[in-house]
Amino acid sequence: MSFTKLPESSVHGLWAARWIFILAAAGSAIGLGNIWKFPYITGMYGGGAFVMVYLLCVLFIGMPIMVAEVMMGRRARAAPINAVQKLAQESGISRRWGLLGWMGTLSGFLILSFYSMIAGWALYYVLLLAQGTFTAGTADTVKTSFDGLLANPGLMLLWHSLFMAMAIFIVARGVNAGLERATRVMMPALIVLLFALVGYAMTTGHFMDGVHFLFDVDFSKLTPQAVLVAMGHSFFTLSLGMGAIMAYGAYMPREHSIGRSVLTIAFLDTAFALLVGLAIFPIVFANGLEPASGPGLMFVTLPLAFGNLPAGALVGTVFFVLVVIAALTSAISIAEPFVAWAVEKGMSRLVAATIIGATSWFLGIFSILSFNWLAGDEYKLFGRTFFDNLDFLTTNILLPLGGLLIAVFAGWAMKETKVMKELEMKNQAVYIAWRIAVRIVAPLGILLVMLNFLGVL
Ligand code: PHE
Repeated sequence: MSFTKLPESSVHGLWAARWIFILAAAGSAIGLGNIWKFPYITGMYGGGAFVMVYLLCVLFIGMPIMVAEVMMGRRARAAPINAVQKLAQESGISRRWGLLGWMGTLSGFLILSFYSMIAGWALYYVLLLAQGTFTAGTADTVKTSFDGLLANPGLMLLWHSLFMAMAIFIVARGVNAGLERATRVMMPALIVLLFALVGYAMTTGHFMDGVHFLFDVDFSKLTPQAVLVAMGHSFFTLSLGMGAIMAYGAYMPREHSIGRSVLTIAFLDTAFALLVGLAIFPIVFANGLEPASGPGLMFVTLPLAFGNLPAGALVGTVFFVLVVIAALTSAISIAEPFVAWAVEKGMSRLVAATIIGATSWFLGIFSILSFNWLAGDEYKLFGRTFFDNLDFLTTNILLPLGGLLIAVFAGWAMKETKVMKELEMKNQAVYIAWRIAVRIVAPLGILLVMLNFLGVL
């Protein structure tokens, strides 16, 4: 991420070009949400109908809210907490809207704690693949390895700590050319490998089973919880509702089109998730695995595929390295709302990064223990482990709630003249469509899904 100081800049600088904003935002969006989470929740909630709700949410709720976040960040040129306060002041409304920024920053801290744990698993898998652990592996041997990891809190802690240290290091160095270069190489490489994996999936003889699972819509499988999870995931995967995209928007040069950037980012993120689905589900069906087997889905299916591919150990190692890089570019954006706020308060980036890194690292320990020491029913709340509750609370409650408030803020609270000035949409129809989406469609949609889940409707 390279910054050049421009007039009209944030204290942190500006992205050097539009495509760097797109790269950074796509780097934030594309991560474990696409590769690890999307397939496993799609498996758990029954496939096609769930995918369709997710796609509808991306289109009608996620994209308009992403436009709102970028617009707010760029107008205020500040970290979300300060940005919302500044914008509230500009529009002559209560500064208490700043709470919205606080809520997002807190969500970031909570998400980072378990995100790092999962990324740690991926880091460990780099080593396992490089050692050729899965060569000629079967569904049973691969599953045994994964279960072995879950049963070993010390091992999980080691890799969680390593990943968190890497993330803190990058955030502390700030906007560094190394990461930008890594992202630039990573995205095309990851896409090439994904296509290769989809190609492999086509040879399993169960490719069409995967396609049917992902795209055949059976509404009878759509429980209120499935709808809530699909909506929550649209926020998680697009990095919305907690200010990550707002923080990045603060560094976006004024002359670039927000609408077109958002279109590109959302398209890349969605295409990426669907490709992962097309790679993973045929492998699931070809090996008689259970689509609903939960968070371990990618850690079982992918090693199985790599273990049976020519040069699979090498390709698999590279793939998991890329997954780790994708997770890193997301993790730094999860921390950015807090770090940018602390820096604006006068703290150094190093101290700020260490504070959020160390506190989320500590909280992450409880997610690690959710798979072993604290896995028993006596430790569950609402029938869920600590990790499941934290994931549920952040992804399905806090992010949509944050998104709701952002939509209401951009659509109702901010003065429209300011909004229009910042967006500078040339196409009137697109502007009106966006306006209707943030004022009515998105807030109403989010509310209905939540009330439906709570059984109020
Ligand atoms: N979008 C990221 C992913 O899919 C996760 C993320 C969530 C990033 C929230 C920033 C904010 O992996």
